[in-house]
Amino acid sequence: MRTTIYILNGPNLNLLGKRQPEIYGNETLDDVQTQCQKTANAADMDIKLMQSNHEGQIVDWIQEARDNAAGIIINPAALTHTSIAVLDALNTFDGPVIEVHVSQIHKRESFRHHSYVSMRADAVIAGCGVQGYALATQRMAQLLTEK
Ligand code: DQA
Repeated sequence: MRTTIYILNGPNLNLLGKRQPEIYGNETLDDVQTQCQKTANAADMDIKLMQSNHEGQIVDWIQEARDNAAGIIINPAALTHTSIAVLDALNTFDGPVIEVHVSQIHKRESFRHHSYVSMRADAVIAGCGVQGYALATQRMAQLLTEK
């Protein structure tokens, strides 16, 4: 059976490609799905990309990943900066976790500089646009091979 990795996306990322394109670019989550599946195929992995505007749903998917995924790539969006619940859920997960931000959060407002999720993430990618997801997928393949 192929290894599955979860790619989780938080609030407002359903609007990727439409929302503030000067910050987040023109590509959509469907584009992200295509790019990541391509990268994952090369490593004989499957991806499951999901998005929710609701914190509890993200927590539920992280808990589900405990039994169904070898690794988690997560763009928690605004929950990055607020959610101890997401951090706690990630701390129950044993595999690698990679945090992705489309924008370079450290160049932006100071409230975006702190990430609860970074306290658990094994790697953080920010400011590479949506390419960050494919880079994270590549890195995830490497981490899972090394395991
Ligand atoms: C984001 C950065 C967050 O600060 C913001 O709240 C988002 C998206 C990013 O991908 O750059 O919604 O996670």
